[in-house]
Amino acid sequence: MSDEEKFRAQFGKRSCFRLASSLDLSFIPSKLFCRDEVINSLIYSFRRILEESEQPAINCLLLGRGGVGKTATAKYFGRNFRNIALEKNVNVFIEYYDAINFRSKSKIIRELLGKYTHGSGRGFSDDEAIKIILSKLIKDKGYMLLILDEVHLLNPDDILAFLNIAETFGHQNAKLSIILISRINDWMRIENEKILSRLNEKIKLNPYNFDEAMQILKYRSEIAFNEDIDEDILEMISQIVVDHQNMRHGIEILRKSGLFADKEGLEEITADIIREASNEVYPTFRGEIIDQLKDQELIALLGIVRSLIRNNEPFTLVDDAFEEYSSLCVNYSLTSHVKMSFRKYVRKLNQLKIISSKTVRIEEAERGRHLEITLLDIPAPKLLELLEDLFNKKFSN
Ligand SMILES: Nc1ncnc2c1ncn2[C@@H]1O[C@H](COP(=O)(O)OP(=O)(O)OP(=O)(O)O)[C@@H](O)[C@H]1O
Ligand SMILES: [Mg+2]
Repeated sequence: MSDEEKFRAQFGKRSCFRLASSLDLSFIPSKLFCRDEVINSLIYSFRRILEESEQPAINCLLLGRGGVGKTATAKYFGRNFRNIALEKNVNVFIEYYDAINFRSKSKIIRELLGKYTHGSGRGFSDDEAIKIILSKLIKDKGYMLLILDEVHLLNPDDILAFLNIAETFGHQNAKLSIILISRINDWMRIENEKILSRLNEKIKLNPYNFDEAMQILKYRSEIAFNEDIDEDILEMISQIVVDHQNMRHGIEILRKSGLFADKEGLEEITADIIREASNEVYPTFRGEIIDQLKDQELIALLGIVRSLIRNNEPFTLVDDAFEEYSSLCVNYSLTSHVKMSFRKYVRKLNQLKIISSKTVRIEEAERGRHLEITLLDIPAPKLLELLEDLFNKKFSN
């Protein structure tokens, strides 16, 4: 076979996917199984906006462990709420912001202002900008449902300022409600009386049980693949989901299995493929966050990974990682920042749960405290692979 024929043959091969993109994290399925109770609570809280003429401002919080469907539920609710509101002639705008991307109240408000007024938003204070947005909503007879995801990454004052908008600008002016989303442990660190007093409802999502996981995976695999996946294969994945209490893990396994089957030219997904794929999924590690890191944070992370591999120990010290970081900056012709900034990036990576860092006292030898850095559940060489891929795309010229 000539090279071109081989190329064509490869292209001509039937993929096992019907819709591979349906397994992307950003995909919101048209049905959301097993979250009726949560959806009903949200409907109950927010339907007042459609029923009462003064359109109250409502603040709700969705809480739960990683991968229990918080983001999916909020977006799903937003989409349906908008449709039902439209039937009642209320024009609801759903605005979703993830604090991984938008790390302060100002960033979010600036973005909103730009969207609603097509201006840059520069020169206005946050409060002025909010006022402009609220007036625009009133003028357009609109209403905004603002979804703030990973909200623990904002500082508590910023969160409170969002929740306080109706009090600050007047209930009659605030055509705006908010859904906050956070993992439970993260939320516990930032919750305070003031914030609590501004929440209309706190809704907790529990991890899916085996039967629920089966139902969801069956549905998601029907959307994603051409052929039905065997029941016993789905049972196997459901068990993994239940073991990790994390649905993302199951969706990732489906995605990786499909890619693997396609690459190997296999017709169906077997138990072996699932085992292989599940070894490649790291439940606490989220690749999509890596894509959103700032350049300096990325280099810092690569520095950490390199020094972990070099030391060949489960942890590395901040000084070692900093050295690697500095030489990487030279390699990639980027400005190398001072150690204090580097420590800031390490803290950020820790907060984003990409690494874990803890301060330890080193006895006699050296003064001061040391920062020990480890990765969570992804092995350093795996992360290195992933990062080098990203760096080649980003910084090669
Ligand atoms: N009820 C469901 N039906 C269909 N798919 C679901 C359901 N619940 C979760 N999923 C899928 O599982 C994956 C994880 O869900 P999601 O991202 O919403 O979790 P999360 O609670 O926001 O997690 P994290 O705290 O890590 O952000 C997503 O791919 C989502 O589409
Ligand atoms: Mg989420």
